[in-house]
Amino acid sequence: MTDIPARHAEHMDRIYRWQVPIYDLTRKYYLIGRDALIAELDPAPGAAVLEIGCGTGRNLAHAARLHPQAVLFGLDISREMLARASETLRANAVLAVADAGDFDPAALFGRRTFDRVFVSYALSMIPDWRAALRRAFDVAAPGARVAIVDFGPMAGMPGPMRWALRRWLRAFSVEPRREFADAFAGMATQRGFRHRVDMLAGGYAVYARAIATS
Ligand SMILES: C[S@@+](CC[C@H](N)C(=O)[O-])C[C@H]1O[C@@H](n2cnc3c(N)ncnc32)[C@H](O)[C@@H]1O
Repeated sequence: MTDIPARHAEHMDRIYRWQVPIYDLTRKYYLIGRDALIAELDPAPGAAVLEIGCGTGRNLAHAARLHPQAVLFGLDISREMLARASETLRANAVLAVADAGDFDPAALFGRRTFDRVFVSYALSMIPDWRAALRRAFDVAAPGARVAIVDFGPMAGMPGPMRWALRRWLRAFSVEPRREFADAFAGMATQRGFRHRVDMLAGGYAVYARAIATS
C-alpha cells in the first residue's frame, strides 16, 4: 500500500469534523438506495463483506442487523468518520484507515478478497474514482458481487433543479460522476461480471451491481 494522500484525507476530515454528529440524521432521506443495496447483498453465512468509504458505519451497522452471520469490514480515508464508525460498530466490523484507490486488503484485514464489496455515496467524493472502482473489482472473490450506489447524472430532473442540486453538492466536494455507468459496465464486462445499472428517482441516484460469473 502506498501512503494515504494527506491533502485529500485532511480535506475529508475538515468537511466531516463538524458534520459527524448530524451526518446520519441529515443523510437519512437523501442518500437513497442504500438500504436496498444492503438488503440485496444477501451474503451467505460467514461471507466477507467490505464497504469502501464506510463513513460513520451506518451502512455496516444496518448490514450487521440484516445479515448477522456475515463478517464485516470497512475502510475510509477520514479518521473523523472512522472514529464514529468504531463507536457505532464496536466489535461488529473490522475497520481501517485507507485510500479507496490504493489499499492492500491483506495488510489491512489479513485477506485478499471479499464475497461482497460495496461503495455507497463515496465515488462522488473520491478524486480518482475510477481507481477506487477498479480496486472494488480487484478485491472481489470468485463468485462475488460488487454494488455501488451514488448520485446519478440527474438527466430526468428539470434543468434548474439539476443545476441547483449540483451546485449545492459541490459545496460539500460531491461531484456526481457522469461517466460512472459506462465505466462500471466496461469494468464489469472486461472482468467477466454480469451487471445491471438502474437509475433511481429520475437519475437522482444510480444503483449498479455486478456478479462474478466465475
Ligand atoms: C458521503 S460519505 C458516505 C459514507 C457512507 N458510505 C454512507 O453511505 O453514508 C463519503 C465517504 O467517503 C469517504 N472518502 C472520500 N474519499 C475517500 C478515499 N479516497 N478513500 C476512502 N474513503 C474516502 C469520506 O471520508 C466519507 O466518509
